[in-house]
This record gives sequence, C-alpha cells and structure tokens, in this order.
Amino acid sequence: MKAPKALFLEDMPAGPPTGTLLAKLDDLPDHGGKDLLFYDGKHRLQLIIQRMGEQVYVYENRCPHAGTPLNLFNDQFLDHSGTRLICRTHGALFEPHNGLCVLGPCKGMHLRPVHFELRDGAIFSA
Ligand code: FES
Repeated sequence: MKAPKALFLEDMPAGPPTGTLLAKLDDLPDHGGKDLLFYDGKHRLQLIIQRMGEQVYVYENRCPHAGTPLNLFNDQFLDHSGTRLICRTHGALFEPHNGLCVLGPCKGMHLRPVHFELRDGAIFSA
C-alpha cells in the first residue's frame, strides 16, 4: 500500500499554525518519544515525536488498524528492541523511518507522517 502524504498540521482541525514549537531536542533523550495532543474543544490531533539518535520522526498518533493512539498512557513508542514503533493495542510494529507496518493486523499500511522543521535544536511544525 502506498504511503500517505505527509500532513501539514495547520491544515488539520485542532492543528497548530506553521512554526509552532513541538519539542526541544534536549527534552527528548536518545530513543525517547513524546506524545503531543492538540485539542480545540471539538477536535483532537495527537502526534508521535520519536527521536532515534540524530534522527527525529513525527507521525500522527493514530494506528491505521483501529485508529487508536499507539501508546496507552505514556511517551513510550518503541518496542522492546528499541528499533520499531509499536501499537500497544494489538501489537503492530512500524518502521520508524517511513511508518510502514511490518508486523501485525495492519501490515503493509503506514502511519501518517507530519511535516516538521528541525532547527536551532528544536522541532517546529512546518
Ligand atoms: S489498533 Fe493498533 S494494532 Fe490494532
């Protein structure tokens, strides 16, 4: 299945405007993640920010299987090996670099990537 186009957050209901600070790199330890929620009183938009070494990945926090967030209650998105994102609901595994589900009920589907900009040691919506 073809990967979905990346989201521009400001085009999404509840999405922040371009240039909004999403996270500082110093606040994300290597292999650390962050669950970010935007809510405008009507719509929710939930994001995954995952750091892996010098790389940062940002996805909509919505599993392509059942539409739930990947995490259940904290900022832990990696599986026990620390190499793949995991959905805690039914265990789907995703490649961090492209969001492809490689194992589980949504195998072959993708997480929705989000446009972002990395500058001055921080991650901003783009
Ligand atoms: S909701 Fe994610 S694997 Fe089922």
